[in-house]
Amino acid sequence: MLQTKPRDGLLHIARAQQFDISFIETLFQLADDSNAMMPAPMTGLILASLFYEESTRTRFSFESAMRRLGGHVIGTENAKQFSSAAKGESIEDTIRVVSHYADIIVLRHDEAGALDRALSATLVPLINAGCGVDQHPTQALLDLHTIKRKCGRTEELTIVFVGDLLSSRTVHSLAYLLGKYRRNRLIFRSPKKLRIPKNITDYLDRHDVYWEEGEGIADGIEDADVIYQTRPQKNRASDPIAAAGLEQYLQEKHLYRVNLSVVERMRKDAIIMHPLPRNDEIAPEVDACPQAVYLDDQIDSGLRIRKALLQIVCGRA
Ligand code: NCD
Repeated sequence: MLQTKPRDGLLHIARAQQFDISFIETLFQLADDSNAMMPAPMTGLILASLFYEESTRTRFSFESAMRRLGGHVIGTENAKQFSSAAKGESIEDTIRVVSHYADIIVLRHDEAGALDRALSATLVPLINAGCGVDQHPTQALLDLHTIKRKCGRTEELTIVFVGDLLSSRTVHSLAYLLGKYRRNRLIFRSPKKLRIPKNITDYLDRHDVYWEEGEGIADGIEDADVIYQTRPQKNRASDPIAAAGLEQYLQEKHLYRVNLSVVERMRKDAIIMHPLPRNDEIAPEVDACPQAVYLDDQIDSGLRIRKALLQIVCGRA
């Protein structure tokens, strides 16, 4: 039967603040158990993947997850050009119509405001796959999953976030998640003009989470459990504040690069993370170090977490 108005009780994945610890633990258990998942739990379901902004990992991992679970995928990798948006259609109209064709929608958009507009229109569960500079909650869940697997815990950790912290939505979402656990220490290292937004540090203050900020990665990396590197978000340069920050980053980028001499100062059991894509903020020779987890462990977590999320959101877990 056609749905004519939004169904009650849909579980959307919108922002990292929405998860409580018990949801995260259930998700991680399912993700770790994914080899034992019953065959094809998503049989008969269709995922619509609507990407209005570039993506490789996020789109492929959602689509691969859905297919590996026995479901189908429809969608476009360039919705700005190849959807009716190019004819002037609003995101509300597009989402409303697509939610008749699919059982779940995965949305990426270059404007943060698109998320709430899409949520107001959808008739099926919707997953935020990164909207504007605001948040990227599924990346944060997979990052936390990697941290748990590699460090053995999600609390009492020292995490050093490095680079463009103003516009890196993965950092924003992960900071919210880490703030839910006991005694994590969040260290933000960026050029002054690319500092972490105040709404996030206000949240950390309200939840009594230790954080500090400063320039350059030299200070404190000996104590880090995790170095979380990010790329300069050049695709955000149309915003004058982001553009000024990027200019400063270009002048200071040697202070933020992870190379072998940085790795030598890190603990042997620490890890180096990056949501990817990388530019030159991690030297290629670091890839072979045991601390580097961005090319394999994070990618594996991505597939596991997205498989688990799809099942939970669609009620097939
Ligand atoms: C990130 C994103 O799109 O926010 N990439 C990703 O989804 N893994 C990080 C980035 O683009 O720098």
